[in-house]
Amino acid sequence: MLLLCHALAIAVVQIVIFSESWAFAKNINFYNVRPPLDPTPFPNSFKCFTCENAGDNYNCNRWAEDKWCPQNTQYCLTVHHFTSHGRSTSITKKCASRSECHFVGCHHSRDSEHTECRSCCEGMICNVELPTNHTNAVFAVMHAQRTSGSSAPTLYLPVLAWVFVLPLL
Ligand SMILES: *[C@@H]1O[C@H](CO)[C@@H](O)[C@H](O)[C@H]1NC(C)=O
Repeated sequence: MLLLCHALAIAVVQIVIFSESWAFAKNINFYNVRPPLDPTPFPNSFKCFTCENAGDNYNCNRWAEDKWCPQNTQYCLTVHHFTSHGRSTSITKKCASRSECHFVGCHHSRDSEHTECRSCCEGMICNVELPTNHTNAVFAVMHAQRTSGSSAPTLYLPVLAWVFVLPLL
């Protein structure tokens, strides 16, 4: 009987190890894999295109500072001012907190004949393009990230409980 319990316990442990490695493999997002260019300063660190009052998008992105965003930011923000003819007059891009991304969309100011569009995105240097209308002046966050990692450990908690209960039977 003791031998049987022991064999069962070993089997359960193997199941736990197997499910753990399976859960790990499931969490790899191959679309996000990039070669490590320089060491990351902290977990989930990222970069944004960063410029202040640039005249056009090419010059904003071309001369953007290449540095990590501060730890209190999670998103990349783009603020685009343009005329009624669609000519850009000012582009500002930076790392932003959630509260700075609260107001996205386009706002037309009647007296100055200018439109301001604001967009936010999540992810490594995601703020490449300029927001120009309500379709692209949005808050774009990544889905299925982090959520899958948090739910996985709860799956094999009952199995772990069995490992401790089995020897007592
Ligand atoms: C918004 O702008 C994008 C890029 O300029 C364009 O492809 C799209 O058709 C526009 N959408 C609307 C609803 O005007």
